[in-house]
Amino acid sequence: MADPAADPLAAQAEAVILVGGQGSRLRPLTLTTPKPMLPCAGVPFLTHQLLRLAETGIEHVVLATSYRAEVFAEHYGDGGELGLAIDYVTETEPLGTGGGIRNVADRLTGGPDTPVVILNGDVLSGHDLTAQLRMHREVDAAVTLHLVGVEDPRAFGCVPTEADGRVTAFLEKTPEPVTDQINAGCYIFRRDVLETIPTGRPVSVERETFPGLLAAGSRVQGYREDAYWLDVGTPAAFVRGSADLVRGVLRSPAVAAPGPALIAPDALVAEDAQVGDGSVIGPGCVISAGAVISGSVLFENVWVAAGAEVRSSVLGAGARVGERSALTDAVLGDQSLVGNDNELAAGARLWASAVLPDATIRFSPGA
Ligand code: GTP
Repeated sequence: MADPAADPLAAQAEAVILVGGQGSRLRPLTLTTPKPMLPCAGVPFLTHQLLRLAETGIEHVVLATSYRAEVFAEHYGDGGELGLAIDYVTETEPLGTGGGIRNVADRLTGGPDTPVVILNGDVLSGHDLTAQLRMHREVDAAVTLHLVGVEDPRAFGCVPTEADGRVTAFLEKTPEPVTDQINAGCYIFRRDVLETIPTGRPVSVERETFPGLLAAGSRVQGYREDAYWLDVGTPAAFVRGSADLVRGVLRSPAVAAPGPALIAPDALVAEDAQVGDGSVIGPGCVISAGAVISGSVLFENVWVAAGAEVRSSVLGAGARVGERSALTDAVLGDQSLVGNDNELAAGARLWASAVLPDATIRFSPGA
């Protein structure tokens, strides 16, 4: 339900969340579940974003789906339980970010100058959306992007601005960036501007729409705020994001009581097992004697045998880890099995239902 203190400006805004990507960097977990629906700090990742929108005062959200589209409506229905009205649009062919946004235009209900907030469905951000909306309205921008400063902008396209926040260019990845500012994946379109995106073909907002608006002399505004920001597209970032939400490093309305770990009420955790650093132990999990679970996400019905260690890893539903095995920065697909006395590290991934026999892999860095 909308926060009573919410800004009235937010109530006029609508939101679109792009959730149609394949999530290839999170395979095999995303082979069955789309990335925004992976459990993160106890709920589907998307729930954190939806509740933040509701808390801001936004009431209408359109989900731009493509890959595994049916999963979203099955889970959220009309959105009423979250205090939202949720609509779904499905692309038969993936249309990219810009095409996906354009494709939902006829589901928006506001007038031509309504602010439409667009979120990438894989970004955790603690920035002040109301302040971004205010800036958008104040300067009457065509688009207002949340910009965040990053330590190493070389891996991203960067977005230089003038002193008043006016964006001057969208620059591709380069070894010598001119600014540390990057597009944080939350932008506000004026509705009539959104409707100028071409229909029926893939369009990238970053490569085509934003540069096109600049070339046409439209006001493209940067809203810089160096709040918590994380793209959870990789396994390492996904576990970090979940642990940050569990510990309250980033507050989410979906995490009622931040703490060292989130353990489902029906999970069985041995008395001398150690579970911490923001780990999540899902429903039906069993953690045996002496096991260590640190900074990891265990989906439902995961079984970890005695003396095993699981660090910074994601374990899919029904995965099993044998005695004394050690996992660091690993991903286990649903129903997979790591036998006793194995060591997996450095991004190792086991496919769904795969079986690693006892004492098969030892990880020896530098050996
Ligand atoms: P990777 O395959 O691991 O790169 O992940 P991804 O498929 O999610 O791609 P990326 O991280 O670049 O996508 C950013 C956001 O846009 C995510 O929220 C995606 O769900 C979303 N997205 C990407 N492509 C499409 C698309 O064609 N249509 C829609 N509706 N959303 C998309």
